[in-house]
Amino acid sequence: MMTVADMGYKEFTAYLEKVFNITLGDVKKIIKAFHSEMKKGLSGFESSLKMIPSFVERPTGRESGKFFALDLGGTNLRLLAVELDGKGASNVSTVSKFVIPPKTMTGAGDELFDFIAECISSFLTESNIDKEKNYDLAFTFSFPVEQTNIAAGKLIAWTKGFTASGVEGKDVIMLLNEALKRKGINCIRIAALANDTVGTLAAKCYNDRDCDMGVILGTGTNACYPEKISNIKKWRGLDPRGEMIINMEWGNFNKLRFTSYDKDVDDESLNTGCQYLEKMVSGMYLGEVTRKIIRDYIHRGLLFTNADSNAFIKKDSFLTEDMSLIASDESTDCALIDEFLKKSGLTEVTIHGKMTLKNICRITSVRAARISAAAISAVIKWTDPKLKNNHTIGVDGSLFEKYPGFSGAMLDVFKILFKEKASKIKLELAKDGSGKGAAIIAAIAATAGTSS
Ligand code: BGC
Repeated sequence: MMTVADMGYKEFTAYLEKVFNITLGDVKKIIKAFHSEMKKGLSGFESSLKMIPSFVERPTGRESGKFFALDLGGTNLRLLAVELDGKGASNVSTVSKFVIPPKTMTGAGDELFDFIAECISSFLTESNIDKEKNYDLAFTFSFPVEQTNIAAGKLIAWTKGFTASGVEGKDVIMLLNEALKRKGINCIRIAALANDTVGTLAAKCYNDRDCDMGVILGTGTNACYPEKISNIKKWRGLDPRGEMIINMEWGNFNKLRFTSYDKDVDDESLNTGCQYLEKMVSGMYLGEVTRKIIRDYIHRGLLFTNADSNAFIKKDSFLTEDMSLIASDESTDCALIDEFLKKSGLTEVTIHGKMTLKNICRITSVRAARISAAAISAVIKWTDPKLKNNHTIGVDGSLFEKYPGFSGAMLDVFKILFKEKASKIKLELAKDGSGKGAAIIAAIAATAGTSS
């Protein structure tokens, strides 16, 4: 029998198609495993899904007021001034964006929080804010946080390349308050802490009552949904009649079929053994999984000539953005791919080579889209097993927004799985949802009087 090592171009490509394929049977298995992990997570048992209570329910659309929102979750930090009119509309008047230097992401925790305080100070100055008055700020912190109330919570573990020391296990609101004090900023009160998924759900829900899921498909990936309090078994003593939004932290789901390429990406990551689903799906890793396959083709002598055999040899030298560009090239002469390859210093690539690159990107991105759709389907089936209601899924993130064909590949899964009922599911872009949504959550906190 032929081993993987001896395979020619055709056999190797067919082999990859097979190991990366997510069939209807796989989707069903993922849904089943999701339900079992969700149940364990909600009951407080060991589970790859942490199912974290967020201390808020869905907004009514009547929340109003002016808030600042601080959004930290990737390589950029953003500050926004958001105004809610109480009738379902929100207006963002000022946005400041700051790039977080890599050494700040991976250095000492205090330095990271001092950097955040510095950004808040610049934002206040640039936007001519009167520092004599007081302002409520909602903090979107897009990492797994064990919340203890609407405005307090401890970081469980960093993800997405952050490793700043001394933050895991600490209350991030306390760390931010201390940094604001060090910087002499007294006009800011932190009114709410929210995960970006919760912000996205709140933002979409503010004017669409059918919205019952917030999903991020960007640098990282995760989702949240409103759960009946009676199902949150780990929470005793709460009024069982209401609902609470649950931050699933689905990026950590680990019941998926890992390939050798996924294993290598995981081994070389800063959080080996964690965030398996995120590493198979999200923008931070998709390019790297794809690069590993490209290198395997090159190594086998199935792609590029000797002159180009060192192509993409360095970790992270092929990005998800590059994949998006390659996928967007529909010309017969692969003009865009050609331009990209020339910029990367590759001059001798044949049309066949370019088509191979495009095919590899298709294989890994379709797998990512199908896994995301399977995960969404699991939540829909959990809350509405017979699919009786309409479901708007608010989605934010560059992978969903910008990757050609990504949302289409997700919709295909819904069609195969739910047949004609699939039309009840709408995937809607919730652009910048997390910032706006955090402001809505701060407004809920202000009305409930629960913020600290
Ligand atoms: C984090 C989540 C976050 C997601 C999307 C993941 O790495 O653990 O908390 O929601 O990224 O930003």
